[in-house]
Amino acid sequence: MGPGEQPEYSAPLRRERLIVVSNRLPFRFRRDDQGQWRADPAGGGLVTALLPVLRHRGGMWIGWTGAVGEDPELATALDAVGKGAGYALKSVPLSEEEVHNFYFGFANEIIWPLFHDLQSLCNFEPEYWRTYCEVNIRFADVVRSNAEPGDFIWVHDYHLMSLAAELRRAGVKSRIGFFLHIPFPPLDLFLKLPWRMALLRALLEYDVIGFQTLRDRRNFVQCVRALVKGAEFEGRGHVLLASVPGRMLRVGSFPISIDYNAFMRQAATSEVAERARELHRLLPNRKLILGVDRLDYTKGIPLRLRAFESLLTRYPELRERVSLIQVVVPSREEIPEYRELKTQIEQQVGKINGSFVRPGGWVPVWYVYRSLARLDLLAYYRAADVALVTPFKDGMNLVAKEYCACSIEEDCALILSEFAGAAPQLARGALLVNPYDIEGVADAIHRAYHMDKGERQARMRRMRRSIREYDVFWWVDSFLRAAITKDLRAFPQPDSYAGEVVEDLPVLF
Ligand code: ADP
Ligand code: F6P
Repeated sequence: MGPGEQPEYSAPLRRERLIVVSNRLPFRFRRDDQGQWRADPAGGGLVTALLPVLRHRGGMWIGWTGAVGEDPELATALDAVGKGAGYALKSVPLSEEEVHNFYFGFANEIIWPLFHDLQSLCNFEPEYWRTYCEVNIRFADVVRSNAEPGDFIWVHDYHLMSLAAELRRAGVKSRIGFFLHIPFPPLDLFLKLPWRMALLRALLEYDVIGFQTLRDRRNFVQCVRALVKGAEFEGRGHVLLASVPGRMLRVGSFPISIDYNAFMRQAATSEVAERARELHRLLPNRKLILGVDRLDYTKGIPLRLRAFESLLTRYPELRERVSLIQVVVPSREEIPEYRELKTQIEQQVGKINGSFVRPGGWVPVWYVYRSLARLDLLAYYRAADVALVTPFKDGMNLVAKEYCACSIEEDCALILSEFAGAAPQLARGALLVNPYDIEGVADAIHRAYHMDKGERQARMRRMRRSIREYDVFWWVDSFLRAAITKDLRAFPQPDSYAGEVVEDLPVLF
């Protein structure tokens, strides 16, 4: 396409109303001490990514409020928040039993561990599946009563994999897209799921399915090829045309991102700079290493603490010269594994601090267990000399991208797990590590500590350039284009796409 020429999809892209459907709305509603409904911003990558998109384009967001049951006062509170947000909010109420079986049960005790390669943590309870199907029907009812012909319905994440099938059953003809924010497992793991065929068939009712990385897309294609007779895939770029008995759909990889400019601008404010300086005043004469994660066993926090302990043991000259700030955001507290993880982390922090602390002075690990206000989070990002992002497996990991966006001086380092979805894109700037390799992670911290300024800046600059170019608006556009473009051959199919080599295996392996 020549400069200035309009791609054929640009007009429909602008015209269509976007209806986003996800399990969680961008606000969690709860009653305060006076009994009034309060809306707090919800956490997690999905909300961070989609909020700027909805603010920018308008539209509607349908999801669960985080509260149990129905309440007319809650509906009023929701309307009021929606008016201020610039897009409509619609809720799908869930009963206590549904929250238990659908959200904590099927979504977070089956799909979450299985899709993160942790099959041993799965609780394949048949009742969970039944409720999952029922709740997907309830979501479909709410979508159906709010959607108009011509809307683009964009469903997000593993809680709602059956939604398109339910909408089709109810006669909805609109285009429906699905984006999976978490990894898609390889065939041998997917086969363990007792409801694998029903789920796969339901997914194939979408018009376009997006994955975070080429690896996830390949896994999905492998599962469809193995389980669906007559399935064929055509194409060689990051979007493939799939033909399965009775229908055609598109399957692509679209690495999610952040509103890079917004993060950068906010991080550059004097308020954030002052808070970052305050952190250095409180923890003087040392490099600050930062970990920021939801409390989740996929994030690899206990092994990261072991790696930090190994650093202090094997490189004693770094004692008093580094501190680890570990921010943990409360999450899914009703699930036993999450509660046990919290106890384990607290014990480890206590042990490390007990072994290495210098009375009246240096504390090796600063542990923060709460959700932070945005400016405080940005101050941590800005103050940190090294970010330590070591999940065992992660769909993308937006913390890694946010850290780079906020590193305005570019004088810092990112240590990143090979198994984060962000790794292929950031491989040329980050220090990649195997999160299971405790001494390897310790060595990477040691290397980051001693890295010269020129190398730090060159690496950070490379990562920032890529995140700026492939930001969240690029992500939403490329997904919608893949959904709407009539002729896939006219769709840009570069050899390398947001840092991933399309034709070959991803850069890492
Ligand atoms: P996940 O979606 O699994 O939680 P991500 O790293 O992709 O993982 O996204 C986490 C999101 O949560 C980021 O956008 C980050 O800004 C936000 N977040 C992380 N820590 C905090 C915190 N302490 N307070 C508020 N928001 C946080
Ligand atoms: O990215 C995975 C995800 O489940 C998102 O759907 C969500 O934003 C985030 O983790 C937080 O999880 P939850 O909605 O269960 O609190």
